[in-house]
Amino acid sequence: MPLTYSSYLKLDELLSLQRPVSDGPEHDETLFIVIHQVYELWFKEILHELDYLETLLARSDTPRALHTLRRVLTILKVVVAQIDVLETMTPLEFLSFRERLESGSGFQSFQFRELEFVLGMKRREAIERYPEGSEGRRRLERRMPQPTLWDAFLGYLAARGFAVPAASLARDVTAPVAESAELHPVLIDIYRRDPEASALCERLVDLDEGIQEWRYRHVKMVQRTIGTKRGTGGSSGAAYLTTTLDRPCFPDLWAIRTEL
Ligand code: HEM
Repeated sequence: MPLTYSSYLKLDELLSLQRPVSDGPEHDETLFIVIHQVYELWFKEILHELDYLETLLARSDTPRALHTLRRVLTILKVVVAQIDVLETMTPLEFLSFRERLESGSGFQSFQFRELEFVLGMKRREAIERYPEGSEGRRRLERRMPQPTLWDAFLGYLAARGFAVPAASLARDVTAPVAESAELHPVLIDIYRRDPEASALCERLVDLDEGIQEWRYRHVKMVQRTIGTKRGTGGSSGAAYLTTTLDRPCFPDLWAIRTEL
């Protein structure tokens, strides 16, 4: 069979994957399924690019690293803007099928947790929520001992001749990335005299800000759609989500701004 648009993209399979569970089915459930599937595809692509970015940093390939980061940032803009689409669904429209979601929630998105791990937010509890033998657990177990994007960036800076403290380079990569005051003079030096490396720093701040922007838009969407009701995933809902705001992935890059 010659390759066609449909066979290449596996369209028959792809278009058979949107299966509402509500009676009727409720009109808005299709939008809800499509948007979550689109998100998961974008998460897949972002992870693919961030893994590549780590190999580019290991090779000290600054132009391609900047190019790849620009791509991720552009996707992130789209991902944040997509919230507008879901916000066209009113609270009553959502309630028409919400109870059929049972305990299903974006909280269980293992690709989102993988993204958090790559960005330095490592934590054992995130793995333990997935049953033994599940795909989510397998993926997070694989990511846990891998260096994060921040570790790759510190390695890149050291290879570029900056005196990155040995403790930062040898940090336990299974622990969350935490602020390190020792690193601040090095980063300040980079901002003052290395335009290429400081451009990378700025793009990492864009990435961090973009993730925080998504969290903010998501919590606002949650507040306008379900108010202060509990989440289907079992959390307190908007109250829980609010605690995840303003937690930077790369705290040192924010901290040095005061000292520059
Ligand atoms: C009507 C739309 C939505 C509502 C009402 C909603 C509600 C919630 C709630 C209440 C939580 C907290 C966990 C829980 O108890 O369930 C949550 C978490 C989450 N949701 Fe949504 N959500 C919506 C759309 C989306 C979309 C489109 C995505 C895209 C993938 C998404 C991804 C996530 C993620 C990744 C978390 C975990 C956040 C964290 O733990 O930091 N949500 N959502």
